[in-house]
Amino acid sequence: MNDNTLPLTGIESIDSDHRGLLETLRRLQTEHCSQDELRHTWQQLRQYADEHFAREEQVLLACAYPQLEYHKTMHGVFRDKIDSLGIALLEGKDRPENETDRMIREAKEELGKPQVAPASPRVMMVAFLVQWLFQHINGHDREYVGHLKKNYA
Ligand SMILES: [Fe+2]
Ligand SMILES: [Fe+2]
Repeated sequence: MNDNTLPLTGIESIDSDHRGLLETLRRLQTEHCSQDELRHTWQQLRQYADEHFAREEQVLLACAYPQLEYHKTMHGVFRDKIDSLGIALLEGKDRPENETDRMIREAKEELGKPQVAPASPRVMMVAFLVQWLFQHINGHDREYVGHLKKNYA
């Protein structure tokens, strides 16, 4: 996905929010992130949810978008997911394996029950943002552009 696949609403603040989210995804995909950097990104995503969704919903209300309630529900899904990713971050699932973890892992391996490592918060964030960019921004957001251009003064 690149900038050209983002829908263009013609409202600079909204388009700029979408580009910003794509940049956050690129950074998470390509750069090593410390635990502190991940927490900072998580805070930015919460801020994105507060600010961007408020902007978008205000515009959709102003142009009487018929799917507004459904659209707001989707924004709620993003908020819930970000909250649960925050819990995973606070639990420190990216911390390095300590002695106890190692003993438990080795014991499980000896018993023939190798543990499948859970995805790290960074990987979970990347997976969620990819899905959000494709399904919501390039899907649900793209769907309102035609209505907005006809009905938003
Ligand atoms: Fe959006
Ligand atoms: Fe949206």
